[in-house]
Amino acid sequence: MSNLNSNYQVIYDTDPGVDDAMALYYALAHPQIDVVGVTTTFGNVSVAQAAENALYLLAIAGRGHIPVTQGVAAPLGKPGEAPPAHIHGADGLGNLANRHPHALHKDPRSSAQFIVDMARVKPGQITVVAVGPLGNLALALEIEPDLPRLLRAVVIMGGTVLEPGNVSPVAEANIWNDPHAADRVFCAGFALTMVGLDVTHQVILPVTLFKQLAAHHHHVATDTLHDAVAFYANFYSDLYPHVAAIHGCFGHDVLAFVALTDPQLFGTQTGAIRVVVDGLAQGQTMLKRKSIPYPQNGWEVVPVTVCMQVNATGCSEKIESVLMRDWLTP
Ligand code: BDR
Ligand code: CA
Repeated sequence: MSNLNSNYQVIYDTDPGVDDAMALYYALAHPQIDVVGVTTTFGNVSVAQAAENALYLLAIAGRGHIPVTQGVAAPLGKPGEAPPAHIHGADGLGNLANRHPHALHKDPRSSAQFIVDMARVKPGQITVVAVGPLGNLALALEIEPDLPRLLRAVVIMGGTVLEPGNVSPVAEANIWNDPHAADRVFCAGFALTMVGLDVTHQVILPVTLFKQLAAHHHHVATDTLHDAVAFYANFYSDLYPHVAAIHGCFGHDVLAFVALTDPQLFGTQTGAIRVVVDGLAQGQTMLKRKSIPYPQNGWEVVPVTVCMQVNATGCSEKIESVLMRDWLTP
């Protein structure tokens, strides 16, 4: 997927979301990642709230020059679900007690149009890291069918192969929120890496890490992240005793960036992915794991790379070391 020591121009497609915020700050802090735009989608919150959260997170981190667009407001092929306020807070950032005023505005383009414009201007150079439902990429494919050739790569946080799902026994939330879009994206022919629950459920980040970050940086951005993560960790700690043991959370979205720059921390498998679009198993990501002919058609699609194993300690150390860097100006 990627070469060590190279640089990455990234469009971050996101539904912030606490782990989305963590991932954004990881990307901003990483010396090899250049975030050239933030495209937003519904998911953890409404798309209007997602766009406002992206603007806010960039504003308080001193990165107001990065364009933010508002994207799809609902799934392509099914009714939308209520946002999970019990996981990310009603505001998506753990119900922040107060927000500092900011003067940033959205780029007027749709998220899909922004992705297409950037891919056309910089063919073969842009990587999309997509950590929410995949409607923006699906619509971008409609505008520009040649998008898989124009983008360098796509990294998705979403899906699961062997690990049980988090919205049904077989489905992960981002894919379940818009299975039709996800199936289009997986079948499109992108140089695509899937970072799903098979690996994200192995990496538990303690709230104490974010407390240390806040103490180290003395900055509103890391204070905000600490507050948001504390709320988010309560949800996971109530659900899983092994997460409660360290009062932690799953970092989900941040691992998409770790997989981009440090693929050696992951074990992968290659194969076609198709998504179940309706019924009891909707949102399931089915991986063709054997190279044998099947009588069932529909599997003649370009294979993708799926993260199946992870060096969890290596990922945690990487996340800590990047976020501890001197990336915030007073
Ligand atoms: C994914 O769903 C969202 O709640 C998180 O932000 C993450 O992208 C995990 O299933
Ligand atoms: Ca997300």
